[in-house]
Amino acid sequence: MKAIAVVDKNLAIGKDGALLFRLPSDLAHFKAETLGGVVIMGRKTLESMPGGKPLPGRHTLVLSRSMEPGLWVREKKGKKWLFGVFTDVPELMDFLDLPQGAPLPADPRNIAVCGGEQIYTQLLPYCSELVLTEVDAEAEDADAHFPEFRNDAAWRVTSEGRPVTENGLTYRIRRYARK
Ligand SMILES: NC(=O)c1ccc[n+]([C@@H]2O[C@H](COP(=O)([O-])OP(=O)(O)OC[C@H]3O[C@@H](n4cnc5c(N)ncnc54)[C@H](OP(=O)(O)O)[C@@H]3O)[C@@H](O)[C@H]2O)c1
Repeated sequence: MKAIAVVDKNLAIGKDGALLFRLPSDLAHFKAETLGGVVIMGRKTLESMPGGKPLPGRHTLVLSRSMEPGLWVREKKGKKWLFGVFTDVPELMDFLDLPQGAPLPADPRNIAVCGGEQIYTQLLPYCSELVLTEVDAEAEDADAHFPEFRNDAAWRVTSEGRPVTENGLTYRIRRYARK
């Protein structure tokens, strides 16, 4: 399972329920990394999606204690997509260990933890890979952060993309794996 996020120099990820940066080319990267797979997110991040709805072309699993728990299957163009609401992390993890019979991809690397802060923090111990879009900027007044993992010797950089400049911001994509 991987975590995917856009972070600033201080690992800030959000403010007032929204993302910090508008980077259309990075959205394309996010799409390529997650399309066809499973995305896991917190209720607040789901609410920040367009229309507060799950992104198309992914199985979406949400952690929430306020939403109705359950599993729903939607069919679109002959493909089945899951939408699940889980009330705690062990319940979600049990579910992910049971791919048989569920229309989930068999490849566990195609499960992406997509935020926000509460969910990254709780699910980082289950992740073997981080895919971070690292923006060379310091956002002001951010109120959500990716957990501080850089002092943890367990993580090493496995690849580093070239710098990309867009909307006056420069970022590069780094992938990390657990040693
Ligand atoms: N930069 C990025 O890549 C990125 C990615 C994603 C999000 N973000 C940003 O992150 C911010 C949101 O982060 P956040 O930490 O405030 O919210 P969040 O993690 O998206 O969602 C928090 C909610 O998840 C539910 N939850 C948390 N732990 C749970 C558990 N153990 N069991 C069941 N439900 C649980 C609760 O929902 P209920 O209240 O319904 O119980 C909680 O209120 C926004 O600014 C967003 O834009 C940034």
